[in-house]
Amino acid sequence: MKQQTAPTPRFVQHELPAASAVRAELLAGLRETPPRMAPKFLYDALGSRLFDAITELPEYYPTRTEAAILERHGADMARQVPAGAVMIDLGAGSCAKAARLFPVLQPSAYVPVDISVDYLRDTLAVLQQRHPDLPMLGLGMDFSQRFALGAAASQWLHDRALADQPRCVFYPGSSIGNFTPDEALALLCQAREMCAAGGPGGGLLIGVDRVKPREVLEPAYDDALGVTAAFNRNLLLHVNRLLGSDFSPAAWQHVGLFNAELSRIEMHLQALGPQTVRWPGGERHFAAGERLHTENSYKWEPHDFQGLLQEAGFDKARHWTDDRAWFSVFWAAA
Ligand code: AVJ
Repeated sequence: MKQQTAPTPRFVQHELPAASAVRAELLAGLRETPPRMAPKFLYDALGSRLFDAITELPEYYPTRTEAAILERHGADMARQVPAGAVMIDLGAGSCAKAARLFPVLQPSAYVPVDISVDYLRDTLAVLQQRHPDLPMLGLGMDFSQRFALGAAASQWLHDRALADQPRCVFYPGSSIGNFTPDEALALLCQAREMCAAGGPGGGLLIGVDRVKPREVLEPAYDDALGVTAAFNRNLLLHVNRLLGSDFSPAAWQHVGLFNAELSRIEMHLQALGPQTVRWPGGERHFAAGERLHTENSYKWEPHDFQGLLQEAGFDKARHWTDDRAWFSVFWAAA
């Protein structure tokens, strides 16, 4: 009798930043005027759960709008994306969006990338059982710093004769919106290089949230239930653990507003009263009303995003949208 071997996904973890580097980054942000903290600090275990809850809110349209676009135009997308591509999923998290595309895109391998492989282990094990013939490699790295497969992942592709397959970089959810236009350009350049290193026909499939009236945008980032407020304030609890600081979440108010000039949603935490926050080796005073900037979420006009893709070296892109033209999914050939 033939032994049925359960396939196991492989994992590669790039070096995680040292605790001292994280502290230094947080302290540098606290010293700036206005003070700021990177949006990655929104995502501890609770923050990730709160974000999942956000995606279910009636006001938060991006997730379900993008899902509808992928569902409705998936077959059309598959005519652009070459079959047999190595699918590289950026910020994969639950891997659910990519998995829904497996039947239409027919990838030859699946490489989800997240900041830590720990977030990928359980989901990837389950996904591998459902797709036993699809080679899977979980890659832990902070691709916002530098985006490259690295030696171990390249070797993994090579060992499976996948090094010369076309590559499809999948970056859904409009997470590109967390980057300034300059930073976004740098990331897109690296994504293009990664695609170009594979076989011909590869490219980028990316979800982008569009500019729309303030009346739609602001409630999506300041919902009636206060879930986004909890998500934002939870950053302080996370920072307290990382820094040993004594931020009191109740002393801070959530602010989510659209900065039309810079075409971005900004999230801030605003001090409700004067207060001093302390941590081992330092402290900082905050005046009443002073703000801590925690996140930007840029909104793009399709024409401008096309220009950015072209600047990054991609061929002329095409995109699919929803009936309200609120969100776009772009395909850009490398
Ligand atoms: C995960 C970055 C796409 O900008 O819409 C949701 C994060 N912040 N609500 C977004 C977020 C507040 C989200 N991204």
